[in-house]
Amino acid sequence: MSRPPTPVLLDCDPGIDDALAIAYLVAEHLAGRIELVGVVCTAGNVGLDDTVANALAWLDLAGAPPLPVCAGAAGAIAVPHVFTPETHGPRGAGYAVLEVGTGAETATKATTGAPGMTTTTTTRRADPRDGAELWVDAARAHSGELVAIVTGPSSTLASALAAEPALPGLVGDLVVMGGTFRGHPGNTTPVSEWNVDVDPEAADAVCLAWEDANNAHARVRGPLWCGLNLTERAVWTPERSARLVAAADTSLTRALAEALRFYFEFHESVGEGYLAQVHDPFVAWLALHPDAVESVPARVRVECRGEHTRGMTVEDRRGHRGRAPSARIATDVRTPGGPSAVLDDICAAIASLAGSGSTGGPG
Ligand code: BDR
Ligand code: CA
Repeated sequence: MSRPPTPVLLDCDPGIDDALAIAYLVAEHLAGRIELVGVVCTAGNVGLDDTVANALAWLDLAGAPPLPVCAGAAGAIAVPHVFTPETHGPRGAGYAVLEVGTGAETATKATTGAPGMTTTTTTRRADPRDGAELWVDAARAHSGELVAIVTGPSSTLASALAAEPALPGLVGDLVVMGGTFRGHPGNTTPVSEWNVDVDPEAADAVCLAWEDANNAHARVRGPLWCGLNLTERAVWTPERSARLVAAADTSLTRALAEALRFYFEFHESVGEGYLAQVHDPFVAWLALHPDAVESVPARVRVECRGEHTRGMTVEDRRGHRGRAPSARIATDVRTPGGPSAVLDDICAAIASLAGSGSTGGPG
């Protein structure tokens, strides 16, 4: 008998590379390889209303079936929220113009059609549950099986942990885009990565909860931390955008290309070149391909106080704190062709989506 598709929950803050992760996961869902059981939106790259509206719009463009989309935390636990319009655009979608609503109250338009054509309007609304509730519901419904992917701040996950302290034992595998390890520099401060830096208290609560659970019950699998040391190798070029649109000329791929154009300019403005590091879809791919991930067992906590080190992911390599290694740090990808081959796979998946906004162009 074939195994049922792996249940997957995404907690994201779209965000340009989050949008690629959403499209990729929808493609894997429609191909029957996973069951995307829900999307949690956390305030991050942009505010909560925008992350929800963007998630709804990208799901529509990707032609996703109905699935719960829930608004989670509106900001960090201990500090005012920091927005990043210079990185992801004022509304979190770069130059893409999305038909966005405002979350729970407003429906999003999926397609408007060209003049003279029949206009198809579908609606997708946010689920009224809080994102933390969706975390708990999904983990209970798929106990021990759920693959949970975090591509934004851990703020909603921290609040889910407060509501259900047994969460680490219910989640099958937690995969986090966050932090930076083994001397690799940060992208927000010299030592911190953005998703962790924006809410270090939340990220540390995640570390501690999983560490406690794993140290008490070895069956609890430690989280996989995918930091900049690996994810900065996932580089998306303008040529890749052009190839994606040539392979499938849809509203989805054109909107992604417009979003990415902004992301290229941001990376160029910080000296990385006219390209984009696409952390989030890469991490989503790693979550679905555990056998392709090279990782090391680790003890990880997050610095929440230091004047120069707040937001730093601290690996206790020698066990000074007397805890057993409970997490894993992703160090490499085993796929022949490396991160670039992973992006090829992600592009092929996205190109397979007709999308509700398909132009029916060459495909
Ligand atoms: C992370 O920060 C965000 O800007 C990206 O979407 C990604 O999740 C990389 O540091
Ligand atoms: Ca993100």
